[in-house]
Amino acid sequence: MGTEHFDDKAATWDDDPDKARQAQDVARAVASAVPTDGATRLLEYGAGTGLVTQALIGRVGPVTLADNSPGMREVLQVKVASGILPRDARVWDLDLETQPVPSERFDLVVSSMVMHHVTQLDVVLAAFAELLEPGGHLCIADLDREDGSFHSHDFGGHHGFDRQELVTALGAAGLAEVTTADCTTISKEGTAYPVFLATARRP
Ligand SMILES: C[S@@+](CC[C@H](N)C(=O)[O-])C[C@H]1O[C@@H](n2cnc3c(N)ncnc32)[C@H](O)[C@@H]1O
Repeated sequence: MGTEHFDDKAATWDDDPDKARQAQDVARAVASAVPTDGATRLLEYGAGTGLVTQALIGRVGPVTLADNSPGMREVLQVKVASGILPRDARVWDLDLETQPVPSERFDLVVSSMVMHHVTQLDVVLAAFAELLEPGGHLCIADLDREDGSFHSHDFGGHHGFDRQELVTALGAAGLAEVTTADCTTISKEGTAYPVFLATARRP
């Protein structure tokens, strides 16, 4: 999928108070699922406008926000320049489906509502495993399997995930201690779509 959809949404993404509420729920779930402190090097992949990272500030150390949408990265840069995100935060143009895995290593990789947009799930999960320092944690928040009604726009991704299938895929990517738990819900046109948090650790 191209980036136009998210490019168009980026400037007004934060106008929806529910987006911040979801991000806070995800950040809370991450913080209670995995150990973090002021030295934790965080990579948020598919960071959008950085709402999840914003909600994790104070619980983690240096942050890197990656997204393949130029519109989203522009919003991130404005937030870094204005101090809404830490002034030393890095914004990366990164698509792990098509680009090499960066050589840097992280203690925590987080993605929220991104993986259902990723076509080559196995490629990106393997990249996450490679990006983690041994002992580092991966946290993926995403939709439980849904009937296809979540996306009204032209959409070629996954209609959510079966948790057990994702657990198997995380194991196949070389990750261990894989668990899933309820995380939050997203309401759209009268339907509440459940969101889970999957966590895993690089051995
Ligand atoms: C539904 S938004 C979620 C944004 C943010 N994580 C949040 O929870 O508010 C999905 C984000 O993933 C990004 N994204 C989608 N596919 C991607 C890919 N292959 N590589 C990097 N970012 C991607 C989009 O540009 C968008 O910013």
